[in-house]
Amino acid sequence: MALPQKKYYRQRAHSNPIADHCFEYPAHPDDYNWSTLFPKTIEQEQKNKQVEFLDVGCGYGGLLVTLSPLFPNNLMLGLEIRVKVSDYVNDRIQALRYQHPDQFQNIAVLRTNAMKYLPNFFHKGQLKKMFFLYPDPHFKKAKHKWRIINKWLLSEYAYVLAEEGVIYTITDVKDLHEWMVKHFVEHPLFERISDEELKSDIIVDKLYESTEEGQKVTRNNGDKYLAVFKRIPDGYNPN
Ligand SMILES: C[S@@+](CC[C@H](N)C(=O)[O-])C[C@H]1O[C@@H](n2cnc3c(N)ncnc32)[C@H](O)[C@@H]1O
Repeated sequence: MALPQKKYYRQRAHSNPIADHCFEYPAHPDDYNWSTLFPKTIEQEQKNKQVEFLDVGCGYGGLLVTLSPLFPNNLMLGLEIRVKVSDYVNDRIQALRYQHPDQFQNIAVLRTNAMKYLPNFFHKGQLKKMFFLYPDPHFKKAKHKWRIINKWLLSEYAYVLAEEGVIYTITDVKDLHEWMVKHFVEHPLFERISDEELKSDIIVDKLYESTEEGQKVTRNNGDKYLAVFKRIPDGYNPN
């Protein structure tokens, strides 16, 4: 089985994330059949294993493929709204699994709108890491409501993220970087991780080049602005 070729999976760059597409989604995370995405791990090894890393708007899947061998014990999922692009990632993962049996069993892709259905797919505090790499900038003011980082969605990300969980962001658009930093810093459940602390995080280096968009920015000599945030405890104890 050969790796898929991107030229057969091209699609318009932007999909309206607010429009009602027809997505199937579970009423509750436990209603979803996760073994369809991770058949080997969940059916044969650990039935209760859950997704812990989430690449939101994963594009062509470069980050998942890079992180897969580095974190073999963590299940990682990419979310992608565009049909052909998510088909490409799926075909890429199936081909990699075929070519390297026993590898790439911990990564998968799901076509969905990440701005609408996260709590349907993930339990409170389930995720350890979330990635927003080169998110769509939606430059015009009227389209800022389409940005995937905003104060309402940050509360939803805080809900699905474990305490001490980490959100990684990177973009080549300075205005979007400043927008993301502002919203995270203003949110009571996030704090920015210092550059000093990030030096020991092996993931940070991978954020610049492992995705297709990151490689495109490099080819065009663009800037890259990184900001990483930690989910801080909310002090809520129902007991
Ligand atoms: C500029 S691309 C970056 C892709 C990838 N992260 C990379 O670095 O190569 C942004 C991606 O996010 C996807 N996307 C935008 N809004 C989304 C949403 N609401 N849910 C899921 N994916 C979304 C787009 O279809 C697109 O593939």
